[in-house]
Amino acid sequence: MCKNMGFSLPLTHILPVILINQVRRNHRDRWDCGGNRLGIGGYVFKCPRCGYETEPSPINFTCPRCGSLMEAVLAELPRDVRFRYRRRLGVWSYVQLLPRPRVRVTLNEGGTPLIKVGKGLYGKFEGLNPTGSFKDRGMAVGVSLAKSMGVHSVVVASTGNTAASASAYGARAGLRPIVLLPNGKVARGKLIQSIVHGASIMGVEGYFDDALTEALEMFKSGKAYSLNSINVWRLEGQKSIAYEIYEEVKVPDNVIVPVGNAGNIYAIWKGFWELMQAGLIDKLPRMIGVQAEGAAPLYETWRRGVDSLIEVNAPRTIASAIRIGKPVNWLKAIKSVKTTNGLIVTVSDGDIMRARDRLARRGVFVEPASASTYAAYLKLLREGVVDSGELTILVLTGHGLKDPDSVKG
Ligand code: F0G
Repeated sequence: MCKNMGFSLPLTHILPVILINQVRRNHRDRWDCGGNRLGIGGYVFKCPRCGYETEPSPINFTCPRCGSLMEAVLAELPRDVRFRYRRRLGVWSYVQLLPRPRVRVTLNEGGTPLIKVGKGLYGKFEGLNPTGSFKDRGMAVGVSLAKSMGVHSVVVASTGNTAASASAYGARAGLRPIVLLPNGKVARGKLIQSIVHGASIMGVEGYFDDALTEALEMFKSGKAYSLNSINVWRLEGQKSIAYEIYEEVKVPDNVIVPVGNAGNIYAIWKGFWELMQAGLIDKLPRMIGVQAEGAAPLYETWRRGVDSLIEVNAPRTIASAIRIGKPVNWLKAIKSVKTTNGLIVTVSDGDIMRARDRLARRGVFVEPASASTYAAYLKLLREGVVDSGELTILVLTGHGLKDPDSVKG
């Protein structure tokens, strides 16, 4: 039975008390959240806003005091962190610094190459993961926890890649994946992936943010386990991007990451931060987040220095993966940028497509959201914010084949 059954109020809605009680019963009845099965005992939950600390939970990710999304912090880092990525194990190569659920699901994710794309410039090509995006790293961990809890269904809202990955890993683990997609706003290749992996697909009118509200309702009512990036355990898998970069080049000067729901930039920051806590590195890379001009809530929030999110109600960009107006991990993303002297930058759709084509002409085919990192690099190079004498990593989050319609025939 779940020890930590306190259930915090939903992010976007206040549910009647009766429903909340029902929710508590549902989770308790259906899922076994016992610490030993999940191997999350080495963590504490800390609130990035008010500092509240509590024991870790597999289902309850918000601060009971202020409602912010909690951080899962390793209470004690192993004294002797030694790892080397091995394809056979996927992200579980880094199990020293991960939860240790009873069941470990893997499709041998991770181990993606750093490809030289310019002077001092490398792309970490996450498009070479099993389903073609970085999401697989997080799903390996999130789905393992779900399976270990005895969950039958998992649910995500998605701009496409999370859905593809949850569908594949859900299928792999024998779980029922449910994916909620904003109607008409998901790239064809990604939609096809969810179909072939046998997910139940629901179209939602509106944007990703509306689909997320519905997916979280399903989670809160106990119908399915959420694998969106409110789930801190999924982000634990994604931090392995930092570990792999470290294994190849130690600490780069800059890491440029496309930002949508804002989980990945934080996850990568967390990976480096842990390496620093473990004494393996003595500085952090500058974290640089990129948003498209028409979908830039984090940029506006960071630029104005305010302490609540400036939402975008009708986000627009050709980079459909990051067409998000209300990123749930905004506070964690801002923390990653601020603590590394980093920044958030915006790029136009035109610049994104030109950057996509330039990378493709060097043999690296990425989807538009991923190409935004190269567009941002070129912009920051012109402005003198980054230098070609530095070591810069572009996190090329998804494969170009996912979005064939973005390529002019
Ligand atoms: N790049 C790609 C290719 C993505 O699919 C996403 C997010 C991001 C970057 C941004 O990462 O959300 O952690 O800031 N895609 C999500 C999805 C939203 O549903 O597939 P983030």
